[in-house]
Parts: sequence; structure tokens; C-alpha cells
Amino acid sequence: MTKHRQTPASATALRCPEAEDTPVLEALFDRAFGPDRHSKGAYRLREGSSPILSLSRVMQTQGGEILGAALVWPVLLRCLISGAINDVLLFGPFAVDPARQGQRLGLTLLNAVMDAIDRQSVGPVFLVGDNPIYKRVGFAPLAPRSIMLPGGIDGDRVKVRDQRGHIRIPSIGELAPPVPERMNRFYGTAAE
Ligand SMILES: CC(C)(COP(=O)(O)OP(=O)(O)OC[C@H]1O[C@@H](n2cnc3c(N)ncnc32)[C@H](O)[C@@H]1OP(=O)(O)O)[C@@H](O)C(=O)NCCC(=O)NCCS
Repeated sequence: MTKHRQTPASATALRCPEAEDTPVLEALFDRAFGPDRHSKGAYRLREGSSPILSLSRVMQTQGGEILGAALVWPVLLRCLISGAINDVLLFGPFAVDPARQGQRLGLTLLNAVMDAIDRQSVGPVFLVGDNPIYKRVGFAPLAPRSIMLPGGIDGDRVKVRDQRGHIRIPSIGELAPPVPERMNRFYGTAAE
């Protein structure tokens, strides 16, 4: 049985990720999701792009050990009726080190990312997942709307959080990888 070390959120710090964190974050996500994680449909949305560092967060101990991370990416939302395209956000991957789960670190991290998104007044933000934790910060299922993932994958696990009604979400649409030249407004935002 895994021995869980206690790490109160008050003993941790949150910051934006940096390029040098990549190997540590990849190892964390592999431990949390398993090494086959890249086969999931959401990964097709991230191919060829980079996380938006100013909206993403890592959680670390005072000694600098990374305990969790949550990344945010730019993606496109296309209406399959009108063809209209909007720039939106994709949340994930999101993970806490397996030895530190169940101590509210994930919720702290999730709240920090949603606060950053709200402060920059960007959105809506989509994710693919079923964890009940997402409802705590305002994510909701899309039904009766239907949003597909790349490759015709059914988006029945897609959730959305749109606190400010930034755009009209289509009744039938698809999420697609971003077109870099449309994303300057996200990448151009200075990290805190
Ligand atoms: C999901 C994850 C990031 C949550 O982090 P965490 O630190 O363990 O979660 P927290 O302790 O902050 O949980 C906050 C609340 O969410 C609930 N919760 C978290 N994970 C849950 C799960 N898998 N199922 C049901 N409830 C869950 C907790 O019970 C807790 O509820 P409470 O406040 O009523 O006690 C972490 O479990 C993880 O890394 N899992 C593996 C990767 C993963 O599945 N990521 C999400 C992909 S969709």
C-alpha cells in the first residue's frame, strides 16, 4: 500500500510552469495517468502547440519538489453548421503526484488555474474527463449540445466552464488543434 505523505496546501507554492519543468512534468503525468496517456483523444488537440504558461500552474514544496500540475492550451471550437471558428481553452493534463493525492492539493491547483483564467477574462475552457472535482469549479456537461474531438471521436466526456458567456457554444461542433497565428492573444500575455 502506498504511504501517503501529508502536505497541507499551505506548505506549498503555486507558480507558472517554465520550459525547464517539462521533463519533471512529463514524468509526473506518466505516473498519474500511465505511460499510454498520449493515445487519448485530447492529446490530438495539443499536437504542434504549447501550453499557455501564464494560465497554467505547478505546485511545489518549499524545497522545490513538484507535487502537481495543471496545464491550459489554446484550441479552436468550430461550429459544424455555420463553420464559425472561435479561440477557446483546453484544460489538462491535471495531476497530483500519486503519493500526495487526497489532500486537497488538486482542488487548490484547480482553483488557482480558474482564478488565472477569470482574471485574464479568457474562455470558455473545455476539458475531457469525468472527475467530480471539476463540478466544484463550474465545469458542466455540454448535453444536449454535441462537441466532437479530432478524428471523429465522440465528445461525450467533454465539459465546459464559461463563467462570462464569452461566446455562443454551437449545438453541434468540434474542437480542433490551434492555428498558431490566431493564438497571439494567449501567448502574448505576460506570465505572472
Ligand atoms: C484528479 C486529481 C488531480 C485530484 O487531486 P487530489 O489532490 O487527489 O484531489 P483533492 O484532494 O484536491 O480532491 C478534492 C475533492 O475532489 C474529490 N475527488 C478528487 N478526485 C476524485 C475522484 N477520482 N473521484 C471522486 N472524487 C474525487 C475529493 O474526494 C475531494 O472531495 P472532498 O473535498 O469532498 O473531500 C488526482 O487525483 C490525480 O492526479 N489523479 C490522476 C490523474 C487524473 O485522473 N487527472 C484528472 C483527469 S480527468
